[in-house]
Amino acid sequence: NLPTKVTIIEVGPRDGLQNEQSFVDTEVKKKFIRQLAASGIKEMEITSFVSPKWVPQMSDAAEIVQAAPAGARSIVLAPNRRGVDRVLDTASKAVALFVGVSNTFNKKNINKPTKESMKELRPIISELKKKDFFVRACISTAFYCPYEGRIPEADTLSLCREFVEAGVDELSVADTIGMAVPTESFSLFSLIKKELPEPMVTAHFHDTRRTALANIFAALQAGIDRFDTSAGGLGGCPFAPGASGNVATEDVVYMLHRMGIETGIDLNKLREAIDTIAPAISRPIDTGYYQLTGNS
Ligand code: HMG
Ligand code: MG
Repeated sequence: NLPTKVTIIEVGPRDGLQNEQSFVDTEVKKKFIRQLAASGIKEMEITSFVSPKWVPQMSDAAEIVQAAPAGARSIVLAPNRRGVDRVLDTASKAVALFVGVSNTFNKKNINKPTKESMKELRPIISELKKKDFFVRACISTAFYCPYEGRIPEADTLSLCREFVEAGVDELSVADTIGMAVPTESFSLFSLIKKELPEPMVTAHFHDTRRTALANIFAALQAGIDRFDTSAGGLGGCPFAPGASGNVATEDVVYMLHRMGIETGIDLNKLREAIDTIAPAISRPIDTGYYQLTGNS
């Protein structure tokens, strides 16, 4: 019983670029975002309000928000109170908060234990909801942690539940270092859909071991119809060793369209966005669809 329609949440401008060592010109980022929206993408993570000392690539976050395309939900990430205060100084109306199920990973990524992050974020979620924000919760290391290994499903479910009780609109459940396999994807997403039927649930796969497309197929079978993907397969968290690119938007869209599942995305126009970002990044784009259709 597969869905007939899937929502793609493009994370290229944020996850895709945050790990790039040399700074990508702000104007190039803005053009990339505009072209992604023009290809039919309706939801996108465009930047993050994190410490510029930790992630210099995202230091132009406030400027990027000014380029948020009309007609698409532009989401910005924030890790803490300071990040949310910076967001509140902009016109943004959609925030993604992020926390790791793994305590060790959370300390490496956000410099505090998971419990402390949650204590800080709970009142922030109520405040953002009162201010009419769309609030998304990104759940990192939902399957595996580079420091702690396999994460029990019960731990992931329990963190998801905390966010749902705090009032978020969406859970984005992430295989941060691309270690999950389809049986694990099916099992965790079936459990989350059964236990937490209310908010939207999105799957976020990194493709480190090339299992992401298979994991998406398994998640579809578990009832998931929302996927975080990154144009060109860019991406990775700088504080998670082994986190290579996100699953590529173009490969996911190709697969879904061939399966008769609508995404609303025009692959030719998506190529134009990838053509814009390709010269600005340090590695070649090696995704299947992009390679096979030739560089324009
Ligand atoms: P910290 O050093 O513990 O922060 O970092 P602090 O509270 O001690 O403050 C230190 C300095 O940073 C202070 O400035 C603060 O004002 C400033 P100073 O007095 O030194 O001049 N500061 C900030 N500045 C700007 N924006 C802020 C902010 N917060 C503090 N928000 C902090 C704590 C959370 C800031 C740091 O750890 C950080 O920025 N981490 C971000 C890590 C990150 O961006 N990771 C990647 C995104 S998550 C991801 O990719 C996973 C995901 O894709 C899902 C998946 O695949 O798993 C979502
Ligand atoms: Mg990620």
